[in-house]
Amino acid sequence: MCGIVGYIGNRQALPILVESLKRLEYRGYDSAGVSVIDRELFNSKAAGRITELEKRLPDAPGRMGIAHTRWATHGRPSDRNAHPFTDCSGRISLVHNGIIENHRELRAGLESRGHRFTSETDTETVVHLVEENYKGDLRAAVSETVRHLRGSLALAVVHLSEPDRIVVARDESPLVIGLGQDENFVASDLPALLKYTRRVIYLQNREVAVIRRDGVGLESFEGEPVERDIATVDWSPEDTEKGGYQHFMLKEIYEQPRAILESLIGRIPGLELDIGGIDKEDFDSVKIVACGTSFHAGLVGKYVLEQLTGLPVIVEAASEYRYSANTRYSPLMVLVSQSGESADTLQAAREARRRGSRTLAITNVVGSSITREVDSVLYTRAGPEIGVAATKTFTSQLIALYLLGMAMGKHRGTLLPSQLQELIDGLRKLPRDVQSVLDNRGAIKLTAEWMAQARDVFFIGRNVHYPTALEGALKLKEISYIHAEGLPAGELKHGPNALLTAETPVVAIAIRDHTYDKMLSNIGEVSARSAPVIAIGLENDRELKKASDLTLYVPEVRPVLSPVPVITTLQLLAYHVALIRGCEIDKPRNLAKSVTVE
Ligand code: G6P
Repeated sequence: MCGIVGYIGNRQALPILVESLKRLEYRGYDSAGVSVIDRELFNSKAAGRITELEKRLPDAPGRMGIAHTRWATHGRPSDRNAHPFTDCSGRISLVHNGIIENHRELRAGLESRGHRFTSETDTETVVHLVEENYKGDLRAAVSETVRHLRGSLALAVVHLSEPDRIVVARDESPLVIGLGQDENFVASDLPALLKYTRRVIYLQNREVAVIRRDGVGLESFEGEPVERDIATVDWSPEDTEKGGYQHFMLKEIYEQPRAILESLIGRIPGLELDIGGIDKEDFDSVKIVACGTSFHAGLVGKYVLEQLTGLPVIVEAASEYRYSANTRYSPLMVLVSQSGESADTLQAAREARRRGSRTLAITNVVGSSITREVDSVLYTRAGPEIGVAATKTFTSQLIALYLLGMAMGKHRGTLLPSQLQELIDGLRKLPRDVQSVLDNRGAIKLTAEWMAQARDVFFIGRNVHYPTALEGALKLKEISYIHAEGLPAGELKHGPNALLTAETPVVAIAIRDHTYDKMLSNIGEVSARSAPVIAIGLENDRELKKASDLTLYVPEVRPVLSPVPVITTLQLLAYHVALIRGCEIDKPRNLAKSVTVE
Protein backbone atom coordinates (compact mmCIF):
# COMPACT_ATOMS: atom_id res chain seq x y z
CA MET A 1 0.00 0.00 0.00
CA CYS A 2 2.77 2.50 0.98
CA GLY A 3 2.40 5.83 2.76
CA ILE A 4 3.64 9.19 1.52
CA VAL A 5 3.97 12.53 3.32
CA GLY A 6 5.22 16.03 2.46
CA TYR A 7 5.85 19.29 4.34
CA ILE A 8 6.53 22.88 3.31
CA GLY A 9 6.63 25.78 5.79
CA ASN A 10 8.84 27.67 8.21
CA ARG A 11 9.73 24.81 10.53
CA GLN A 12 12.46 22.21 10.08
CA ALA A 13 10.95 19.56 7.81
CA LEU A 14 12.80 16.43 8.88
CA PRO A 15 11.24 15.84 12.34
CA ILE A 16 7.76 16.58 10.99
CA LEU A 17 8.21 14.19 8.08
CA VAL A 18 9.47 11.37 10.29
CA GLU A 19 6.69 11.86 12.85
CA SER A 20 4.03 11.92 10.12
CA LEU A 21 5.50 8.87 8.45
CA LYS A 22 5.30 6.87 11.67
CA ARG A 23 1.59 7.47 11.75
CA LEU A 24 1.33 5.79 8.35
CA GLU A 25 3.45 2.78 9.17
CA TYR A 26 0.40 0.52 9.14
CA ARG A 27 0.41 1.11 5.37
CA GLY A 28 3.69 -0.76 5.04
CA TYR A 29 7.05 -1.14 6.68
CA ASP A 30 9.38 -2.70 4.15
CA SER A 31 11.53 0.41 3.87
CA ALA A 32 11.37 4.15 4.49
CA GLY A 33 13.02 7.21 3.03
CA VAL A 34 13.06 10.99 3.04
CA SER A 35 14.18 13.92 0.85
CA VAL A 36 14.69 17.42 2.22
CA ILE A 37 15.60 20.51 0.22
CA ASP A 38 17.75 23.30 1.63
CA ARG A 39 20.53 24.58 -0.59
CA GLU A 40 20.99 20.98 -1.65
CA LEU A 41 18.77 17.97 -2.08
CA PHE A 42 19.36 15.67 0.90
CA ASN A 43 18.26 12.03 0.57
CA SER A 44 18.22 9.14 3.01
CA LYS A 45 16.57 5.73 2.90
CA ALA A 46 16.74 2.38 4.62
CA ALA A 47 15.21 -1.07 4.33
CA GLY A 48 12.99 -2.05 7.26
CA ARG A 49 10.90 0.02 9.62
CA ILE A 50 11.05 3.78 10.07
CA THR A 51 13.24 3.32 13.15
CA GLU A 52 15.95 1.95 10.82
CA LEU A 53 15.78 5.16 8.80
CA GLU A 54 15.91 7.24 11.95
CA LYS A 55 19.16 5.56 12.98
CA ARG A 56 20.75 6.83 9.75
CA LEU A 57 19.36 10.35 9.72
CA PRO A 58 21.79 13.20 10.33
CA ASP A 59 20.38 16.58 11.30
CA ALA A 60 19.75 17.78 7.75
CA PRO A 61 18.35 21.30 7.59
CA GLY A 62 15.52 22.24 5.21
CA ARG A 63 12.01 23.62 5.46
CA MET A 64 10.42 21.41 2.82
CA GLY A 65 10.57 17.75 1.91
CA ILE A 66 8.83 14.47 1.14
CA ALA A 67 8.97 11.00 2.71
CA HIS A 68 7.73 7.47 2.13
CA THR A 69 7.08 4.20 3.94
CA ARG A 70 6.95 1.25 1.59
CA TRP A 71 4.91 -1.88 1.19
CA ALA A 72 6.72 -3.60 -1.68
CA THR A 73 4.92 -4.51 -4.87
CA HIS A 74 7.67 -4.36 -7.52
CA GLY A 75 11.16 -5.20 -6.37
CA ARG A 76 12.08 -6.77 -3.08
CA PRO A 77 12.36 -4.69 0.08
CA SER A 78 15.88 -3.23 0.14
CA ASP A 79 17.75 0.06 0.47
CA ARG A 80 17.97 0.51 -3.28
CA ASN A 81 14.28 -0.16 -3.86
CA ALA A 82 13.29 2.32 -1.13
CA HIS A 83 11.71 5.64 -2.07
CA PRO A 84 12.32 8.57 -2.70
CA PHE A 85 13.84 8.15 -6.15
CA THR A 86 15.94 10.79 -7.85
CA ASP A 87 16.43 11.47 -11.56
CA CYS A 88 19.77 11.21 -13.39
CA SER A 89 20.71 14.81 -12.46
CA GLY A 90 19.96 14.23 -8.78
CA ARG A 91 17.85 17.40 -8.68
CA ILE A 92 14.35 15.87 -8.76
CA SER A 93 13.04 13.58 -6.00
CA LEU A 94 9.79 11.62 -6.02
CA VAL A 95 7.69 9.33 -3.81
CA HIS A 96 4.84 7.16 -5.07
CA ASN A 97 2.03 5.00 -3.75
CA GLY A 98 0.36 2.70 -6.27
CA ILE A 99 1.34 0.53 -9.20
CA ILE A 100 2.54 1.75 -12.60
CA GLU A 101 1.25 -0.98 -14.90
CA ASN A 102 3.09 0.10 -18.04
CA HIS A 103 6.42 0.53 -16.27
CA ARG A 104 8.19 -2.11 -18.32
CA GLU A 105 7.63 -0.44 -21.68
CA LEU A 106 8.32 2.99 -20.16
CA ARG A 107 11.56 1.77 -18.65
CA ALA A 108 12.73 0.20 -21.92
CA GLY A 109 12.17 3.52 -23.70
CA LEU A 110 13.87 5.55 -20.97
CA GLU A 111 16.89 3.23 -20.88
CA SER A 112 17.24 3.40 -24.65
CA ARG A 113 17.31 7.18 -24.29
CA GLY A 114 20.18 6.93 -21.82
CA HIS A 115 18.49 7.09 -18.40
CA ARG A 116 20.26 5.18 -15.65
CA PHE A 117 18.10 3.16 -13.24
CA THR A 118 19.20 2.27 -9.74
CA SER A 119 16.26 0.08 -8.61
CA GLU A 120 13.86 -2.65 -9.77
CA THR A 121 10.78 -0.61 -8.97
CA ASP A 122 7.97 0.58 -11.22
CA THR A 123 8.19 4.00 -9.52
CA GLU A 124 11.64 4.90 -10.74
CA THR A 125 10.34 5.22 -14.31
CA VAL A 126 8.17 8.13 -13.15
CA VAL A 127 11.02 10.30 -11.86
CA HIS A 128 12.94 9.81 -15.12
CA LEU A 129 9.84 10.76 -17.11
CA VAL A 130 9.46 13.93 -15.01
CA GLU A 131 13.12 14.67 -15.77
CA GLU A 132 12.49 14.30 -19.52
CA ASN A 133 9.40 16.46 -19.39
CA TYR A 134 10.95 19.20 -17.24
CA LYS A 135 11.29 22.50 -19.07
CA GLY A 136 11.60 24.84 -16.09
CA ASP A 137 8.15 24.17 -14.60
CA LEU A 138 7.74 21.19 -12.26
CA ARG A 139 3.92 21.28 -12.29
CA ALA A 140 3.87 21.16 -16.09
CA ALA A 141 6.39 18.30 -16.08
CA VAL A 142 4.32 16.25 -13.60
CA SER A 143 1.08 16.93 -15.51
CA GLU A 144 2.70 15.80 -18.75
CA THR A 145 4.14 12.69 -17.06
CA VAL A 146 0.95 11.42 -15.44
CA ARG A 147 -0.77 11.44 -18.79
CA HIS A 148 1.57 8.64 -19.89
CA LEU A 149 1.10 6.42 -16.83
CA ARG A 150 -1.32 3.52 -16.46
CA GLY A 151 -2.31 2.06 -13.10
CA SER A 152 -2.74 3.74 -9.75
CA LEU A 153 -0.76 6.56 -8.26
CA ALA A 154 -0.35 9.14 -5.56
CA LEU A 155 2.83 11.14 -6.20
CA ALA A 156 4.75 13.86 -4.42
CA VAL A 157 7.63 15.48 -6.31
CA VAL A 158 10.20 18.17 -5.46
CA HIS A 159 12.87 19.91 -7.56
CA LEU A 160 16.00 21.59 -6.26
CA SER A 161 15.42 24.51 -8.66
CA GLU A 162 11.90 25.11 -7.27
CA PRO A 163 12.31 25.00 -3.50
CA ASP A 164 9.02 26.85 -2.96
CA ARG A 165 6.70 24.00 -3.94
CA ILE A 166 5.77 20.33 -3.73
CA VAL A 167 3.84 19.03 -6.73
CA VAL A 168 1.45 16.16 -6.03
CA ALA A 169 -0.84 14.09 -8.24
CA ARG A 170 -3.49 11.48 -7.62
CA ASP A 171 -5.20 8.75 -9.62
CA GLU A 172 -6.81 5.90 -7.61
CA SER A 173 -4.38 6.03 -4.63
CA PRO A 174 -5.43 8.37 -1.81
CA LEU A 175 -3.90 11.79 -1.10
CA VAL A 176 -4.94 14.46 1.40
CA ILE A 177 -3.57 18.01 1.65
CA GLY A 178 -3.41 19.49 5.17
CA LEU A 179 -3.65 23.27 5.52
CA GLY A 180 -1.73 25.05 8.29
CA GLN A 181 -0.70 28.62 9.15
CA ASP A 182 2.17 29.52 6.77
CA GLU A 183 2.76 25.82 6.27
CA ASN A 184 1.08 23.03 4.39
CA PHE A 185 1.22 19.25 4.39
CA VAL A 186 0.35 16.30 2.24
CA ALA A 187 -0.19 12.66 3.15
CA SER A 188 -1.72 9.40 1.97
CA ASP A 189 -4.05 9.39 4.92
CA LEU A 190 -5.34 11.59 7.72
CA PRO A 191 -3.44 10.05 10.65
CA ALA A 192 -0.25 11.69 9.37
CA LEU A 193 -1.83 15.18 9.40
CA LEU A 194 -4.00 15.40 12.46
CA LYS A 195 -1.23 16.37 14.84
CA TYR A 196 -0.74 19.53 12.76
CA THR A 197 -4.09 20.47 11.28
CA ARG A 198 -7.70 19.39 10.85
CA ARG A 199 -8.31 21.52 7.75
CA VAL A 200 -7.85 19.36 4.71
CA ILE A 201 -8.44 19.14 0.99
CA TYR A 202 -9.05 15.67 -0.44
CA LEU A 203 -7.43 15.41 -3.83
CA GLN A 204 -9.65 13.52 -6.29
CA ASN A 205 -8.71 11.15 -9.10
CA ARG A 206 -6.82 12.66 -12.01
CA GLU A 207 -5.90 15.84 -10.18
CA VAL A 208 -2.57 17.63 -9.72
CA ALA A 209 -1.83 20.17 -6.97
CA VAL A 210 0.95 22.65 -6.30
CA ILE A 211 1.54 23.04 -2.57
CA ARG A 212 3.38 26.17 -1.39
CA ARG A 213 3.95 27.60 2.12
CA ASP A 214 1.15 30.07 1.64
CA GLY A 215 -1.33 28.33 -0.63
CA VAL A 216 -2.46 25.39 -2.69
CA GLY A 217 -3.56 25.28 -6.35
CA LEU A 218 -5.44 22.35 -7.92
CA GLU A 219 -6.04 21.39 -11.52
CA SER A 220 -7.12 18.34 -13.50
CA PHE A 221 -4.69 16.14 -15.46
CA GLU A 222 -6.07 17.93 -18.51
CA GLY A 223 -5.02 21.34 -17.11
CA GLU A 224 -8.49 22.62 -16.09
CA PRO A 225 -8.43 24.62 -12.82
CA VAL A 226 -10.27 22.88 -9.94
CA GLU A 227 -12.04 24.54 -6.98
CA ARG A 228 -12.40 22.36 -3.90
CA ASP A 229 -13.93 23.14 -0.52
CA ILE A 230 -11.79 22.81 2.57
CA ALA A 231 -13.05 20.02 4.85
CA THR A 232 -12.69 20.11 8.62
CA VAL A 233 -11.97 16.76 10.22
CA ASP A 234 -13.51 16.20 13.65
CA TRP A 235 -11.26 13.31 14.67
CA SER A 236 -8.64 13.65 17.35
CA PRO A 237 -5.13 12.36 16.58
CA GLU A 238 -5.63 9.56 19.15
CA ASP A 239 -8.59 8.21 17.21
CA THR A 240 -6.53 7.61 14.16
CA GLU A 241 -4.00 5.06 15.21
CA LYS A 242 -6.05 2.58 13.26
CA GLY A 243 -7.20 5.06 10.67
CA GLY A 244 -10.22 5.90 12.81
CA TYR A 245 -11.38 2.31 13.22
CA GLN A 246 -11.68 0.73 16.63
CA HIS A 247 -9.70 -2.28 15.48
CA PHE A 248 -7.38 -3.17 12.65
CA MET A 249 -9.70 -6.05 11.81
CA LEU A 250 -12.61 -3.69 11.16
CA LYS A 251 -10.42 -1.36 9.16
CA GLU A 252 -9.21 -4.28 7.08
CA ILE A 253 -12.75 -5.52 6.48
CA TYR A 254 -13.55 -2.03 5.21
CA GLU A 255 -10.48 -1.98 2.99
CA GLN A 256 -11.80 -4.90 0.93
CA PRO A 257 -13.32 -2.93 -1.95
CA ARG A 258 -9.94 -1.24 -2.40
CA ALA A 259 -7.96 -4.50 -2.02
CA ILE A 260 -10.15 -6.24 -4.61
CA LEU A 261 -9.73 -3.36 -7.02
CA GLU A 262 -5.95 -3.37 -6.57
CA SER A 263 -5.82 -7.11 -7.16
CA LEU A 264 -7.65 -6.63 -10.47
CA ILE A 265 -5.78 -3.60 -11.81
CA GLY A 266 -3.84 -4.38 -14.95
CA ARG A 267 -4.96 -8.01 -15.04
CA ILE A 268 -8.20 -7.84 -16.97
CA PRO A 269 -9.48 -7.89 -19.67
CA GLY A 270 -6.39 -9.55 -21.22
CA LEU A 271 -5.89 -11.76 -18.14
CA GLU A 272 -2.20 -10.88 -18.04
CA LEU A 273 -1.18 -12.66 -14.88
CA ASP A 274 2.56 -12.53 -15.34
CA ILE A 275 3.04 -16.08 -13.95
CA GLY A 276 5.64 -17.35 -16.36
CA GLY A 277 3.09 -18.87 -18.73
CA ILE A 278 1.76 -21.37 -16.16
CA ASP A 279 -1.81 -20.49 -17.13
CA LYS A 280 -1.02 -21.54 -20.71
CA GLU A 281 0.51 -24.92 -19.90
CA ASP A 282 -1.43 -28.16 -20.23
CA PHE A 283 -1.92 -29.88 -16.89
CA ASP A 284 -4.29 -32.77 -16.21
CA SER A 285 -4.96 -31.86 -12.58
CA VAL A 286 -4.22 -29.24 -9.95
CA LYS A 287 -3.39 -29.45 -6.25
CA ILE A 288 -3.86 -26.53 -3.88
CA VAL A 289 -2.04 -26.52 -0.53
CA ALA A 290 -2.33 -23.95 2.27
CA CYS A 291 -3.05 -23.35 5.99
CA GLY A 292 -5.83 -21.65 7.93
CA THR A 293 -7.81 -19.02 6.10
CA SER A 294 -5.64 -19.50 3.02
CA PHE A 295 -6.65 -23.19 3.07
CA HIS A 296 -10.30 -22.10 2.97
CA ALA A 297 -9.52 -19.83 0.02
CA GLY A 298 -7.97 -22.89 -1.62
CA LEU A 299 -11.16 -24.88 -1.00
CA VAL A 300 -13.22 -22.17 -2.72
CA GLY A 301 -10.55 -22.31 -5.44
CA LYS A 302 -11.28 -26.01 -6.00
CA TYR A 303 -14.89 -25.29 -6.97
CA VAL A 304 -13.84 -22.28 -9.03
CA LEU A 305 -11.05 -24.01 -10.97
CA GLU A 306 -13.09 -27.15 -11.56
CA GLN A 307 -15.97 -25.09 -12.90
CA LEU A 308 -13.85 -22.82 -15.08
CA THR A 309 -11.20 -25.27 -16.33
CA GLY A 310 -12.82 -28.70 -16.12
CA LEU A 311 -9.69 -30.01 -14.37
CA PRO A 312 -9.88 -32.12 -11.21
CA VAL A 313 -8.58 -30.18 -8.22
CA ILE A 314 -7.46 -31.57 -4.85
CA VAL A 315 -6.96 -29.33 -1.83
CA GLU A 316 -4.79 -30.37 1.09
CA ALA A 317 -3.79 -28.74 4.34
CA ALA A 318 -0.08 -27.97 4.00
CA SER A 319 0.70 -29.82 7.23
CA GLU A 320 -0.84 -32.98 5.75
CA TYR A 321 0.52 -32.82 2.24
CA ARG A 322 4.11 -33.53 3.22
CA TYR A 323 3.28 -36.72 5.02
CA SER A 324 0.82 -38.13 2.54
CA ALA A 325 1.76 -41.56 1.19
CA ASN A 326 0.57 -40.45 -2.21
CA THR A 327 3.89 -39.18 -3.48
CA ARG A 328 2.81 -39.05 -7.11
CA TYR A 329 3.60 -35.57 -8.25
CA SER A 330 0.76 -33.17 -9.02
CA PRO A 331 1.41 -31.45 -12.32
CA LEU A 332 0.45 -28.01 -10.97
CA MET A 333 0.79 -27.15 -7.29
CA VAL A 334 -0.75 -23.88 -6.12
CA LEU A 335 0.48 -22.74 -2.70
CA VAL A 336 -1.65 -20.08 -1.04
CA SER A 337 -0.13 -18.05 1.79
CA GLN A 338 -0.88 -14.48 2.83
CA SER A 339 2.45 -13.99 4.56
CA GLY A 340 4.49 -16.29 2.36
CA GLU A 341 6.12 -17.42 5.60
CA SER A 342 3.94 -20.23 7.04
CA ALA A 343 6.39 -23.01 7.74
CA ASP A 344 4.06 -25.83 6.66
CA THR A 345 3.31 -24.18 3.35
CA LEU A 346 7.00 -23.47 2.73
CA GLN A 347 7.86 -27.09 3.39
CA ALA A 348 5.05 -28.21 1.10
CA ALA A 349 6.46 -25.97 -1.65
CA ARG A 350 9.89 -27.58 -1.27
CA GLU A 351 8.38 -31.07 -1.28
CA ALA A 352 6.30 -30.27 -4.37
CA ARG A 353 9.37 -29.18 -6.27
CA ARG A 354 11.23 -32.26 -5.14
CA ARG A 355 8.39 -34.33 -6.57
CA GLY A 356 8.74 -32.47 -9.86
CA SER A 357 5.61 -30.30 -9.82
CA ARG A 358 5.26 -26.90 -11.41
CA THR A 359 4.70 -24.56 -8.48
CA LEU A 360 2.75 -21.32 -8.24
CA ALA A 361 2.48 -19.26 -5.04
CA ILE A 362 -0.41 -16.91 -4.33
CA THR A 363 0.89 -14.52 -1.68
CA ASN A 364 0.47 -10.99 -0.38
CA VAL A 365 4.06 -10.26 0.53
CA VAL A 366 6.64 -9.36 -2.08
CA GLY A 367 9.99 -10.93 -1.36
CA SER A 368 8.57 -13.38 1.22
CA SER A 369 10.21 -16.77 1.62
CA ILE A 370 7.71 -18.66 -0.50
CA THR A 371 8.49 -16.50 -3.51
CA ARG A 372 11.97 -18.03 -3.53
CA GLU A 373 10.64 -21.60 -3.35
CA VAL A 374 8.33 -21.61 -6.37
CA ASP A 375 8.47 -21.27 -10.14
CA SER A 376 6.03 -18.33 -10.32
CA VAL A 377 4.15 -15.95 -8.05
CA LEU A 378 0.71 -14.39 -8.37
CA TYR A 379 0.53 -11.50 -5.91
CA THR A 380 -2.57 -10.45 -4.08
CA ARG A 381 -2.46 -6.71 -3.51
CA ALA A 382 -4.35 -6.39 -0.27
CA GLY A 383 -1.79 -4.20 1.51
CA PRO A 384 -0.44 -5.04 4.95
CA GLU A 385 -2.84 -6.95 7.18
CA ILE A 386 -2.29 -6.38 10.88
CA GLY A 387 -5.33 -8.01 12.48
CA VAL A 388 -4.48 -11.65 13.19
CA ALA A 389 -7.82 -12.83 11.80
CA ALA A 390 -7.35 -12.67 8.03
CA THR A 391 -10.07 -10.73 6.18
CA LYS A 392 -9.05 -8.65 3.18
CA THR A 393 -6.30 -11.10 2.29
CA PHE A 394 -8.87 -13.92 2.04
CA THR A 395 -11.03 -12.01 -0.44
CA SER A 396 -7.91 -10.98 -2.41
CA GLN A 397 -6.85 -14.64 -2.55
CA LEU A 398 -10.26 -15.48 -3.99
CA ILE A 399 -9.73 -12.79 -6.65
CA ALA A 400 -6.36 -14.34 -7.54
CA LEU A 401 -7.98 -17.78 -7.83
CA TYR A 402 -10.79 -16.42 -10.01
CA LEU A 403 -8.23 -14.78 -12.29
CA LEU A 404 -6.19 -17.99 -12.44
CA GLY A 405 -9.28 -20.07 -13.25
CA MET A 406 -10.36 -17.60 -15.92
CA ALA A 407 -6.89 -17.45 -17.52
CA MET A 408 -6.60 -21.26 -17.55
CA GLY A 409 -10.19 -21.67 -18.76
CA LYS A 410 -9.53 -19.21 -21.57
CA HIS A 411 -6.44 -21.13 -22.67
CA ARG A 412 -8.13 -24.53 -22.39
CA GLY A 413 -11.24 -23.37 -24.23
CA THR A 414 -13.50 -24.43 -21.36
CA LEU A 415 -14.92 -20.92 -21.12
CA LEU A 416 -16.88 -19.34 -23.94
CA PRO A 417 -15.93 -15.71 -24.66
CA SER A 418 -19.40 -14.67 -23.44
CA GLN A 419 -18.91 -16.55 -20.14
CA LEU A 420 -15.51 -14.96 -19.71
CA GLN A 421 -16.99 -11.53 -20.31
CA GLU A 422 -19.73 -12.16 -17.74
CA LEU A 423 -17.10 -13.10 -15.17
CA ILE A 424 -15.00 -10.05 -15.98
CA ASP A 425 -18.07 -7.82 -15.56
CA GLY A 426 -18.91 -9.58 -12.31
CA LEU A 427 -15.37 -9.13 -10.97
CA ARG A 428 -15.38 -5.45 -11.86
CA LYS A 429 -18.63 -5.01 -9.93
CA LEU A 430 -17.39 -6.85 -6.82
CA PRO A 431 -15.86 -3.81 -5.07
CA ARG A 432 -19.28 -2.14 -5.24
CA ASP A 433 -21.05 -5.29 -4.05
CA VAL A 434 -18.75 -5.50 -1.04
CA GLN A 435 -19.19 -1.79 -0.36
CA SER A 436 -22.93 -2.28 -0.30
CA VAL A 437 -22.55 -5.03 2.36
CA LEU A 438 -20.38 -2.65 4.40
CA ASP A 439 -22.87 0.18 4.01
CA ASN A 440 -25.65 -1.98 5.43
CA ARG A 441 -23.95 -3.02 8.64
CA GLY A 442 -26.99 -2.30 10.84
CA ALA A 443 -28.75 -5.64 10.30
CA ILE A 444 -25.50 -7.53 10.88
CA LYS A 445 -24.99 -5.74 14.23
CA LEU A 446 -28.50 -6.71 15.35
CA THR A 447 -27.89 -10.32 14.39
CA ALA A 448 -24.63 -10.26 16.35
CA GLU A 449 -26.43 -9.17 19.50
CA TRP A 450 -28.62 -12.18 19.14
CA MET A 451 -25.75 -14.56 18.43
CA ALA A 452 -23.39 -13.29 21.13
CA GLN A 453 -25.11 -15.44 23.80
CA ALA A 454 -24.63 -18.71 21.91
CA ARG A 455 -22.26 -21.43 23.04
CA ASP A 456 -22.17 -23.31 19.72
CA VAL A 457 -22.94 -22.08 16.20
CA PHE A 458 -23.11 -24.12 12.99
CA PHE A 459 -22.46 -22.69 9.53
CA ILE A 460 -23.78 -24.59 6.52
CA GLY A 461 -23.51 -24.17 2.76
CA ARG A 462 -23.16 -26.14 -0.44
CA ASN A 463 -20.68 -25.93 -3.32
CA VAL A 464 -18.62 -22.71 -3.10
CA HIS A 465 -20.45 -21.91 0.11
CA TYR A 466 -19.26 -24.98 1.93
CA PRO A 467 -15.77 -23.43 2.28
CA THR A 468 -17.38 -20.03 2.85
CA ALA A 469 -19.18 -21.62 5.80
CA LEU A 470 -15.87 -23.05 7.05
CA GLU A 471 -14.29 -19.60 6.90
CA GLY A 472 -17.30 -17.95 8.56
CA ALA A 473 -17.03 -20.46 11.42
CA LEU A 474 -13.27 -19.92 11.70
CA LYS A 475 -13.72 -16.14 11.97
CA LEU A 476 -16.27 -16.56 14.74
CA LYS A 477 -14.25 -19.03 16.78
CA GLU A 478 -10.90 -17.28 16.50
CA ILE A 479 -12.04 -13.86 17.68
CA SER A 480 -15.16 -14.51 19.82
CA TYR A 481 -14.14 -17.89 21.33
CA ILE A 482 -17.59 -19.32 20.57
CA HIS A 483 -17.39 -22.90 19.38
CA ALA A 484 -18.31 -22.85 15.68
CA GLU A 485 -18.32 -25.49 12.96
CA GLY A 486 -18.64 -25.17 9.21
CA LEU A 487 -20.30 -28.06 7.40
CA PRO A 488 -21.48 -29.07 3.95
CA ALA A 489 -25.24 -28.58 4.41
CA GLY A 490 -25.97 -32.13 3.29
CA GLU A 491 -23.82 -33.56 6.09
CA LEU A 492 -25.96 -32.16 8.94
CA LYS A 493 -28.20 -35.18 8.89
CA HIS A 494 -25.24 -37.55 9.13
CA GLY A 495 -24.45 -36.66 12.74
CA PRO A 496 -24.38 -32.97 13.64
CA ASN A 497 -28.21 -32.84 13.70
CA ALA A 498 -27.92 -34.62 17.05
CA LEU A 499 -26.52 -31.41 18.52
CA LEU A 500 -29.26 -29.06 17.30
CA THR A 501 -31.43 -27.41 19.95
CA ALA A 502 -33.22 -24.09 20.34
CA GLU A 503 -29.89 -22.74 21.69
CA THR A 504 -27.72 -23.60 18.66
CA PRO A 505 -28.05 -21.01 15.88
CA VAL A 506 -27.40 -22.27 12.34
CA VAL A 507 -26.07 -19.83 9.74
CA ALA A 508 -27.26 -21.05 6.34
CA ILE A 509 -25.84 -19.60 3.13
CA ALA A 510 -28.52 -19.87 0.45
CA ILE A 511 -27.75 -17.94 -2.71
CA ARG A 512 -30.01 -18.56 -5.70
CA ASP A 513 -27.75 -21.06 -7.50
CA HIS A 514 -28.13 -24.71 -8.49
CA THR A 515 -28.04 -25.76 -4.82
CA TYR A 516 -30.71 -23.33 -3.66
CA ASP A 517 -33.65 -25.76 -3.43
CA LYS A 518 -31.57 -28.25 -1.48
CA MET A 519 -30.48 -25.48 0.86
CA LEU A 520 -34.12 -24.56 1.50
CA SER A 521 -34.80 -28.19 2.40
CA ASN A 522 -31.85 -28.20 4.81
CA ILE A 523 -33.10 -24.98 6.41
CA GLY A 524 -36.48 -26.66 6.88
CA GLU A 525 -34.80 -29.63 8.57
CA VAL A 526 -32.95 -27.33 10.95
CA SER A 527 -36.09 -25.37 11.83
CA ALA A 528 -37.99 -28.61 12.47
CA ARG A 529 -35.45 -29.30 15.24
CA SER A 530 -36.14 -25.85 16.77
CA ALA A 531 -32.69 -24.47 15.97
CA PRO A 532 -32.82 -20.79 14.99
CA VAL A 533 -31.79 -20.12 11.37
CA ILE A 534 -29.85 -17.07 10.25
CA ALA A 535 -29.97 -17.14 6.47
CA ILE A 536 -27.68 -15.29 4.12
CA GLY A 537 -29.24 -14.78 0.70
CA LEU A 538 -29.78 -12.46 -2.20
CA GLU A 539 -31.66 -9.19 -1.86
CA ASN A 540 -35.44 -9.51 -2.16
CA ASP A 541 -35.50 -13.26 -1.55
CA ARG A 542 -38.90 -13.49 0.14
CA GLU A 543 -38.96 -17.28 0.15
CA LEU A 544 -35.75 -17.38 2.17
CA LYS A 545 -37.00 -14.71 4.56
CA LYS A 546 -40.09 -16.81 5.23
CA ALA A 547 -38.03 -19.94 5.87
CA SER A 548 -35.61 -18.38 8.36
CA ASP A 549 -35.65 -16.53 11.68
CA LEU A 550 -33.27 -13.78 10.57
CA THR A 551 -32.07 -12.95 7.08
CA LEU A 552 -29.01 -11.02 5.96
CA TYR A 553 -28.83 -9.94 2.36
CA VAL A 554 -26.02 -9.60 -0.15
CA PRO A 555 -26.34 -7.94 -3.59
CA GLU A 556 -27.20 -9.96 -6.69
CA VAL A 557 -23.90 -11.40 -7.93
CA ARG A 558 -22.80 -14.30 -10.13
CA PRO A 559 -22.98 -17.48 -7.98
CA VAL A 560 -19.30 -18.38 -8.40
CA LEU A 561 -18.30 -14.90 -7.17
CA SER A 562 -20.79 -14.81 -4.32
CA PRO A 563 -18.38 -16.05 -1.59
CA VAL A 564 -16.87 -12.54 -1.63
CA PRO A 565 -19.90 -10.54 -0.42
CA VAL A 566 -21.05 -13.47 1.74
CA ILE A 567 -17.76 -13.75 3.64
CA THR A 568 -17.73 -9.97 4.12
CA THR A 569 -21.07 -10.39 5.91
CA LEU A 570 -19.71 -13.24 8.04
CA GLN A 571 -16.53 -11.31 8.92
CA LEU A 572 -18.61 -8.39 10.17
CA LEU A 573 -20.89 -10.76 12.05
CA ALA A 574 -17.92 -12.37 13.85
CA TYR A 575 -16.42 -8.93 14.54
CA HIS A 576 -19.58 -7.62 16.19
CA VAL A 577 -20.11 -10.77 18.22
CA ALA A 578 -16.52 -10.51 19.51
CA LEU A 579 -17.02 -6.81 20.25
CA ILE A 580 -20.14 -7.50 22.31
CA ARG A 581 -18.32 -10.25 24.17
CA GLY A 582 -15.44 -7.89 24.97
CA CYS A 583 -12.77 -10.03 23.26
CA GLU A 584 -9.28 -8.94 22.22
CA ILE A 585 -10.13 -8.71 18.53
CA ASP A 586 -6.86 -7.87 16.80
CA LYS A 587 -4.72 -10.28 18.75
CA PRO A 588 -6.79 -13.33 19.74
CA ARG A 589 -5.40 -15.54 22.45
CA ASN A 590 -3.00 -18.31 21.46
CA LEU A 591 -2.85 -17.20 17.81
CA ALA A 592 -0.28 -15.46 15.65
CA LYS A 593 -0.43 -13.76 12.32
CA SER A 594 2.29 -15.82 10.76
CA VAL A 595 3.07 -19.32 11.97
CA THR A 596 6.69 -20.08 11.25
CA VAL A 597 6.93 -23.39 13.08
CA GLU A 598 5.66 -26.69 11.75
C1 G6P B 1 -2.11 -18.24 10.95
C2 G6P B 1 -3.03 -17.05 10.93
C3 G6P B 1 -4.18 -17.28 9.97
C4 G6P B 1 -3.64 -17.63 8.59
C5 G6P B 1 -2.70 -18.83 8.66
C6 G6P B 1 -2.00 -19.05 7.34
O1 G6P B 1 -2.76 -19.31 11.51
O2 G6P B 1 -3.53 -16.79 12.22
O3 G6P B 1 -4.98 -16.11 9.87
O4 G6P B 1 -4.70 -17.92 7.73
O5 G6P B 1 -1.69 -18.58 9.62
O6 G6P B 1 -1.15 -17.97 7.08
P1 G6P B 1 -0.62 -17.61 5.66
O7 G6P B 1 0.23 -16.37 5.90
O8 G6P B 1 0.21 -18.76 5.20
O9 G6P B 1 -1.77 -17.36 4.79
